[in-house]
Amino acid sequence: MCGPDGYRHYMLKEIHEQPRVVADALGTMINSATGRPALPNFPELKRASRLLMAACGTSYYAALTGKYLFEKLARLPVEVELASEFRYREPVLVPGRTALFISQSGETADTLAALRLCREAGLSLLSIVNVTDSSMARESHAILPTLAGPEIGVASTKVFTAQLTILSALALALASHRGFITEREEARLTRVLGETPAAMAAILADAGSIKALARDLVAPAKSAIFLGRGPSFPIALEGALKLKETSYIHAEGYAAGEFKHGPMALVDETMPIIALAPSDSLFPKIASNLAEINALGGRTIFIGDAAGLARVSGLAGHILLPETDPFTIPLVYSLPVQLLAYHAAVARGADVDQPRHLTKSVTAE
Ligand code: AGP
Repeated sequence: MCGPDGYRHYMLKEIHEQPRVVADALGTMINSATGRPALPNFPELKRASRLLMAACGTSYYAALTGKYLFEKLARLPVEVELASEFRYREPVLVPGRTALFISQSGETADTLAALRLCREAGLSLLSIVNVTDSSMARESHAILPTLAGPEIGVASTKVFTAQLTILSALALALASHRGFITEREEARLTRVLGETPAAMAAILADAGSIKALARDLVAPAKSAIFLGRGPSFPIALEGALKLKETSYIHAEGYAAGEFKHGPMALVDETMPIIALAPSDSLFPKIASNLAEINALGGRTIFIGDAAGLARVSGLAGHILLPETDPFTIPLVYSLPVQLLAYHAAVARGADVDQPRHLTKSVTAE
């Protein structure tokens, strides 16, 4: 095998860097003296009664995941905006409110324009960026760096999970600060977060079945659907984006509960329907979606743990993951969707690191 550090592509190398990247990102958020997640030196966040988030592409899906985490744990209302829409729709901006921008490059034209709009309107600006000397970093009042190192593959992988790590730790710190979790629960969830790199490493060490499934069931398809519920929904959206940008297979992500409202008409015996089905409180719901799709002759692929797998039948394939605490499902379930996209793209002979028509950083509209 030749290529970056013995990997065939940068994308695969960057996927494999995630256990370290997640551990490093977590390290920036944990106070080394107390072992507790710390809030950034940005008092506006402590005072915020609601939060605006804006981003594009994969970073937007990180923001959507952040909404689930912040609202559930910290009871902080979050509005998530596609930066490209936000900047042009004359949004109502209240001076003194707080906005969080998420970007790998820190140079994405739409996100930067959204940030400048908020700045002019007198909002307080916090950004999660990977490039710490980027325009967004310079123009924000405070930043949280993802420190994932340069990301070369056009498809964002390691920076996405670094963003999720920062958001998860921030949600925890806010939850404690706002009094919505006990110190004991905070300690438990901090421990769970700290165990994620090892869970990721275990998935990466045993990814042969994901490669085979991608080659046999996904690569031949013309179209694919990813389904998720709750915090798995943004990961379903991200899975679809990864698949379409790397393999050129048309793919859509859906909130599983929305599937009956139209997309169900697409079910046939050829299109893979990939369900993110962790054993969380929403498992029975997604299991019933799967049963319904199977009854219609659909081709379902299950991503979940052994306990969940034992409760479903009629699948075309499955990816088995370790049992995962609901808190870290978005982080852990990102890996199989990245690997599925990567291996499907390789099987189709696509230019994985430099997909056609795309640039790493969209600095012009
Ligand atoms: C991700 O795989 C894409 N290449 C793309 O959606 C990207 O996330 C988007 O352009 C935003 O980039 P940013 O994080 O640098 O702002």
